[in-house]
Amino acid sequence: KKVVLAYSGGLDTTVIIHWLKQNYDYEVIAVCVDVGQGKELDGLEERALSSGASKLYIENVVEDFVDEYVIETVKSGAIYEGKYLLGTSMARPIISKKLVEIALKEGAEAICHGATGKGNDQVRFELSIKALAPQLKIIAPWRIWDISSREDALDYCAKYNLEVPMKKDNSYSRDRNLWHISHEGLDLELPENEPNYDSLLQMSVTPEKAPDEPTYIEMEFNKGTPVKLNDVSMSCTSILTKLNKIGGKNGIGVIDIVENRIVGMKSRGVYETPGGTILYYAHRELEYLCLDKQTLSYKDTVSVKFAELVYSGEWFTPLREALSAFVNSTQETVTGKVKLKLYKGNITPAGAESPYSLYNESIASFTTGELYNHKDAEGFINLFGLPLKVRAMMLNNNKTN
Ligand code: ARG
Ligand code: SIN
Repeated sequence: KKVVLAYSGGLDTTVIIHWLKQNYDYEVIAVCVDVGQGKELDGLEERALSSGASKLYIENVVEDFVDEYVIETVKSGAIYEGKYLLGTSMARPIISKKLVEIALKEGAEAICHGATGKGNDQVRFELSIKALAPQLKIIAPWRIWDISSREDALDYCAKYNLEVPMKKDNSYSRDRNLWHISHEGLDLELPENEPNYDSLLQMSVTPEKAPDEPTYIEMEFNKGTPVKLNDVSMSCTSILTKLNKIGGKNGIGVIDIVENRIVGMKSRGVYETPGGTILYYAHRELEYLCLDKQTLSYKDTVSVKFAELVYSGEWFTPLREALSAFVNSTQETVTGKVKLKLYKGNITPAGAESPYSLYNESIASFTTGELYNHKDAEGFINLFGLPLKVRAMMLNNNKTN
């Protein structure tokens, strides 16, 4: 009997390997899905095998993660609860997809993950697995065992002589990929505390430490997809990697939010999304130029729903796919260039252009042109205001009666 384990090489997943063998007599196939967490993957195989796994797969899916999940989400404009750029949420479906692929290839009967019973990640992993391979069993040790803290986990290691590289240190619960890093726990659990950014931040700096000179960048999009940075053609992954450096240095994209988790509780987190924040901003600037009023407005309502679906682990669902189809249809004309000024945590637009721009200078200009007749406005306002006028007359009549 085999089980595929989502493996990170950390304390929890090390304990899980031993626990799976002990309690289920499983052969454990460890799988580390690389979504750009930037961790040293050298030595990971040795650690997995010495912890008792029979094999370790290291799957680099960074490009697919960016092209098929991140960019789809950027195009949708999805932002959860007005702030969160969904970094962890977007990565869970592709990780699940890889786990499923390997489970099927290995003939495993179950997939195991190390997400806790209090969080969002368990929901995301499991919904994705159910959508892709409903026959697979799912094992979530945190919902089964008695280990409830880092200390418990270390005691477990001591009891069974498991070697772990981590000490009894207290650190934030973090999740990193190419798009973002999240920080939760410790002092952040009290919303009244200001985050201690100097010890927290890993991809970026505070605005105070950003350069005193602004950085200008130019981004080019083709149908909503970024294709050039500063006039150089690059893959989306390279663009994001470069934007992370530029954004991080300028203190862009650090947010602090009390968010509603899927499982009902509010939780507080700090997220760094330096490159992603620039990408969202640039893309939106181009939409202002290229999308008509009704499409832009409707797309904004779609963004809210899209964000909820991504946050709640509903990536592999008919609705998410249908919304993506809508979004992609709107992106047909989102092609062009956007210039931005980055300065101490701020992004300021510095000009945009597109062959599909709906902005018409002769119509918009205060100097009267041929396409727009001031006189037309009078009749328009009379009809547009007719319901207001009728209602006001009714109210007046009732007052005098
Ligand atoms: N609250 C964020 C989310 O649900 C971040 C979760 C971080 N996950 C983690 N395993 N540390 O998307
Ligand atoms: C976890 O509980 O595993 C991390 C936090 C989350 O999933 O929301």
